[in-house]
Amino acid sequence: MLTIDELATFCKRRGFVYPSCEIYGGMSGFFDYGPLGVELKNSIKQQWWKSHVQQRSDIVGIDGSIITHPKVWEASGHVANFTDIMAKCGKCGNSSRADHLVEDKAKIPTAGMNTSQLQELMAKHKIKCPRCGSDVLKIAQPFNLMFKTTVGPSSGKEAEAYLRPETAQLIFTDFKLAQENARLKLPFGIAQIGKAFRNEIAPRDFLFRCREFEQMEIEYFVHPNKIGKCPYVEEFSSYEMNVLTSEMQKKGGDEHKKTKVKEMLDKKLILPWHAYWLAFEHNWLASLGAKTENLRIRQHVQEEKSHYATDTWDLEYNFPFGWKELEGIANRSDYDLQQHMKASGKDLSCFDPETNTKVVPHVVAEPSLGVDRTFLVFLFDAYEYDSKRENIVLHLNPKLAPIKAAVFPLLSNKEELVADAKKVYDELRKEFSCFYDENGSIGRRYSRMDEAGTPYCITVDFDSLSKHDATIRDRDSTKQARVKIKELAEILHKLLSGKMEFGSLA
Ligand code: GAP
Repeated sequence: MLTIDELATFCKRRGFVYPSCEIYGGMSGFFDYGPLGVELKNSIKQQWWKSHVQQRSDIVGIDGSIITHPKVWEASGHVANFTDIMAKCGKCGNSSRADHLVEDKAKIPTAGMNTSQLQELMAKHKIKCPRCGSDVLKIAQPFNLMFKTTVGPSSGKEAEAYLRPETAQLIFTDFKLAQENARLKLPFGIAQIGKAFRNEIAPRDFLFRCREFEQMEIEYFVHPNKIGKCPYVEEFSSYEMNVLTSEMQKKGGDEHKKTKVKEMLDKKLILPWHAYWLAFEHNWLASLGAKTENLRIRQHVQEEKSHYATDTWDLEYNFPFGWKELEGIANRSDYDLQQHMKASGKDLSCFDPETNTKVVPHVVAEPSLGVDRTFLVFLFDAYEYDSKRENIVLHLNPKLAPIKAAVFPLLSNKEELVADAKKVYDELRKEFSCFYDENGSIGRRYSRMDEAGTPYCITVDFDSLSKHDATIRDRDSTKQARVKIKELAEILHKLLSGKMEFGSLA
């Protein structure tokens, strides 16, 4: 499998992702998306928004502010609890996450361990500084991951605010307004896509752990008396996923087992709403190209759960550095709404017309997916070195591909071919992100587009001039077909949306 460093090198060379501000030496944990990367990232977000918000009648979206009121984070528990334990090297001053050092070197799960437990394990396993190799590593005070800033000209305490470490809290603070404006009735969800910031002690693994990243989150609210029943779970009854429960982990196991949703429910391993959202998310990722053998769902063990969660399952991906969280799906109960009601003194309950009473809904599932980690997953599962073509091919789902179609004149020194090819390009780019290329041999141009993940290449040749048609080439099979130029846009629409198979053109 491709390593994360090899993927980072590829991303930089092809203009997917660069280290941020590289001309000044870069900044650890910050990245910029290049011309291909921004298209792929935008497509991921568009596909998510379409299937999670626009195509559903029970979910609406918001877009909250990034710099947020400090009271939000006091109420949510982030000021007190959003910390990691840091190990600092007494010799070179390097900071590392103590839990990561122990997990990496001693291969021991560290969920929920406190400062002294980690210090003890570091001594027992003679863990050294990963930078200079010295053994004078000392555990420091728990380190809060939130970025603080000041708002306005004053720099006093009253001007302090935070960059949000998760988008979720804005959903809770806007809950009442959004519910009333959109006239939502339980059960319903509120979704948001946006930046989040965490001052990670040791960012690592390229986009996997950065300090600035994006999240796609939903808080799904259910009547407190109806948390045991999910009207949608039936549609996923026979859906199968790789499952690793907390019970299996307690017995020392790390091997997941293929299990159907129905079996999980029958054995009461999970509540129906939680199972529904895990299957929905798993299916969404798979439908856009994530390989199901690289996905699993893993339940948090008791010590690992966040302060707000009654049950959490991670959707994990088999990264080259191990199975790691791609998406967290927690049951947050009514924790957040209750906390914000207490702290703000505002009523955040909903009216229940059946009982004529007010109820505080429960968040039965919070699907929280990182855009940047999803970006990595789609790239890993699309990437192939094709030894026949002697070239990298990115088999990205056409819905995600940064460039949907490339247009070439067969020869760049034939004016009439160039003119016709440019006409085709000008027409197509009104509807799709397209690329025009007349440099190098046709073979080189195909290779460059295969590497960029472009699903279709269109070549205007001498026959095109008289017959008003062109060849269209399929990235994955390399097969070609001739199509009328006036039908190209419609055919591309059908191919890109999956309504037409390329084979039906030949
Ligand atoms: N609101 C819940 C929440 O934020 P989380 O598990 O801390 O839960 C959700 O984060 C997702 O955000 C993760 O599954 C991951 O995809 C992404 N994420 C979290 N920290 C990240 C980081 N430092 N860099 C990149 N993505 C991150």
